Amino acid sequence: MIPLMPHPQIQILVCLNERPPGSAKPSCAPRGSLEVYHRFKDRVKELGIRDRVMVTRTGCLKHCSQGITVAVWPFNLWYRGVTVDDVEEILQRTVLEDGREVERLRMPDIPWE
Ligand code: FES
Repeated sequence: MIPLMPHPQIQILVCLNERPPGSAKPSCAPRGSLEVYHRFKDRVKELGIRDRVMVTRTGCLKHCSQGITVAVWPFNLWYRGVTVDDVEEILQRTVLEDGREVERLRMPDIPWE
């Protein structure tokens, strides 16, 4: 019998969408989002919180001009321009401090792109 895994309490979504060179809209992968994704994965493992925090690679999160785009649920916090250097602060504040926002990375309130 397969053991039941609990649902994650927190989910970190990282956009890994990649558009071809010369596309009208930018995308997150060419800006380095795979590296951001792996940094989140590595640090979640090192912090020992894998049983409650899931890091998920996604397609376009509809804020392409602002990427790299990251969203953290259930807090509904959206971050713009995320780099590997921002990962630790997001984990320490938003994940470990239960939804505290990293204000300097706040996504502007713009329509979906
Ligand atoms: S390509 Fe990342 S938000 Fe659209």
